[in-house]
Amino acid sequence: MTLDSSMPRQLLLTIETTCDETAAAIIDREKTVLASCVASQQQVHERFHGVVPELAARAHLERILPIVENVLVEAKVQPESEIVAVAVATEPGLPGCLLVGLAAAKALCVAWNKPLVAINHVHAHIYACQLGRSETIFPCLGFVVSGGHTNLYRCESSDQWHYLGGTIDDAVGEAFDKVAVMLGLPYPGGPELSRLAEHGDDKAMDLPRPMLNDRSTLNMSFSGLKTAVRYQLVGTGKQDFSTIIASAEKKANVAASFQRAAIDCLIGKADLALQLSGLRRLCVGGGVAANRLFREKLRDLTNGHKVELLIAPPELCTDNAVMGAIAWEKIVRAEFAPLSIDVQPGLLRGV
Ligand code: KG4
Ligand code: ZN
Repeated sequence: MTLDSSMPRQLLLTIETTCDETAAAIIDREKTVLASCVASQQQVHERFHGVVPELAARAHLERILPIVENVLVEAKVQPESEIVAVAVATEPGLPGCLLVGLAAAKALCVAWNKPLVAINHVHAHIYACQLGRSETIFPCLGFVVSGGHTNLYRCESSDQWHYLGGTIDDAVGEAFDKVAVMLGLPYPGGPELSRLAEHGDDKAMDLPRPMLNDRSTLNMSFSGLKTAVRYQLVGTGKQDFSTIIASAEKKANVAASFQRAAIDCLIGKADLALQLSGLRRLCVGGGVAANRLFREKLRDLTNGHKVELLIAPPELCTDNAVMGAIAWEKIVRAEFAPLSIDVQPGLLRGV
């Protein structure tokens, strides 16, 4: 696409509604963020200890237009003359949630007569490492660790992603969240669990590291680890977690032991992927990349391999619309989506 140089500012509006955050951002061509807004749905889902898809979609519907309006007002945008395109995450994610974002983006494209850009949310998580950096992050080994995904990619360029392996069951963030529920921690459990783990002994509980020593695959598994924690806490019976009366010390030890086991699994596969791929840069994004211990272990790993490490800044690890800046890469290739495009929810593994 030849961008019109007579345009006063060339701005991108990005929209994110894949799961439980409604977000929008205004980003210019240099990828400077002029406005960003994220509305968490924590209050909607906390009493269910997890995301309820139907409620999430309805909450997006309530919030999406006010959030878009917020960023337009904050960045003082004249949409008709300054917006170059509207970008939205169309895959992967919860179907009803994706549909709300896509419908909003399509409506704005029609109203303003602008092209639509479809973003892959998982790629965008890795692209969060590009923000604030002038040199390209490609080629790199991309590692997405979130509530929905735990995937490794060989990322040749912004449009060439090769799936190398990932979880065969739960995402690592999901395991953090489920163990947090077992420990009676509030939703979303990952950050709470990691705070509790700071006070615990990570060797107190002997937990498995599923698939860690299987060097024939870059796949991972977290559901067995989650179940092992459950068995150690309540045994194999049908006992309710709410009846667990564990001391604060025991809970902290469980949190620390689980966190350590999960992170050992992630680091082990990142290590193997670096060895097998020969890539010299590791880019990590997604909610679990905000975890302090994981960030520390990633630094040790990449120092050992003497490869470059880029981790998304903590505020861009969890879902946001700023990482939608990846749409600029598509705009320069004139890679626009037809208005008939549908959502692609089901990409649980790979692309
Ligand atoms: O990327 P994200 O916002 O949503 C998905 O695309 O899934 O990731 C959310 C996940 C949740 O499972 C949350 O518990 C986890 O990231 N998370 C953490 C931490 N912060 C967020 N897990 C462990 N430690 C953290 N500090
Ligand atoms: Zn995400």
